[in-house]
Amino acid sequence: MARRRQLYEGKAKILFEGPEPGTLVQYFKDDATAGNGAKKGIITGKGVLNNRISEHLMLRLHDIGIPTHFIRRLNMREQLIREVEIIPLEVVVRNVAAGSLAKRLGIPEGTRLPRTIIEYYYKNDSLNDPMVSEEHITAFGWACTNDLDDMVALTMRVNDFLSGLFVGIGITLVDFKLEFGRLWEGEEMRIVLADEISPDNCRLWDAKTSEKLDKDRFRRDLGRVEEAYQEVAWRLGILPEA
Ligand code: C5P
Repeated sequence: MARRRQLYEGKAKILFEGPEPGTLVQYFKDDATAGNGAKKGIITGKGVLNNRISEHLMLRLHDIGIPTHFIRRLNMREQLIREVEIIPLEVVVRNVAAGSLAKRLGIPEGTRLPRTIIEYYYKNDSLNDPMVSEEHITAFGWACTNDLDDMVALTMRVNDFLSGLFVGIGITLVDFKLEFGRLWEGEEMRIVLADEISPDNCRLWDAKTSEKLDKDRFRRDLGRVEEAYQEVAWRLGILPEA
């Protein structure tokens, strides 16, 4: 493929100019960071696996009518996506207490929450992605109430669908992070799911043993990180080897 102009490099991905106007190429790196870059490492093969896993999940979500930025996978590490105006929010969905929620509120990890909880974080590395409320989001104009309503409705549908999909392969979807973008079609604007859905931004626990099959293995130095990502891909049926 011809070399493309690089538009943005993030911690785990690079965005290149796409072949047609309104498209981008999203490249998945093996680089892993935790604590907003405080810990850095490489998870060999992660980019390839996340590209496949995210493709699979975005396509399944498309099948049930969730609009996404995903167009098609181009090769082992790249996918073609629609260029969207990224809303500077991380939408975190929690079904089971873990990570920062468990720590902040003193709830033991693994406690099933009374209901699904959605949290918002302002995407800003220099501020360490602070948690924000709907009030901050609308007051500072990061998203309007209508945008937020759309994001919440889509988020709940994604959670219901993915929770069921993972239950079917013996995995508990503990929590995950979504990002959304605005897609302009003429004068019409739609909110669509953007970024990626992979073990980098989901907590996935084996339903029987609670073994962690996600990036917490890297964050917490639990070892067998590559194997965990592979296990998720195998269970999703997207790796030929058993
Ligand atoms: O760390 P915390 O418990 O708040 O993370 C909640 C969920 O959001 C986890 O699944 C984590 O992988 C994801 N997350 C993310 N990117 C961040 C922060 C959290 O993907 N910057």
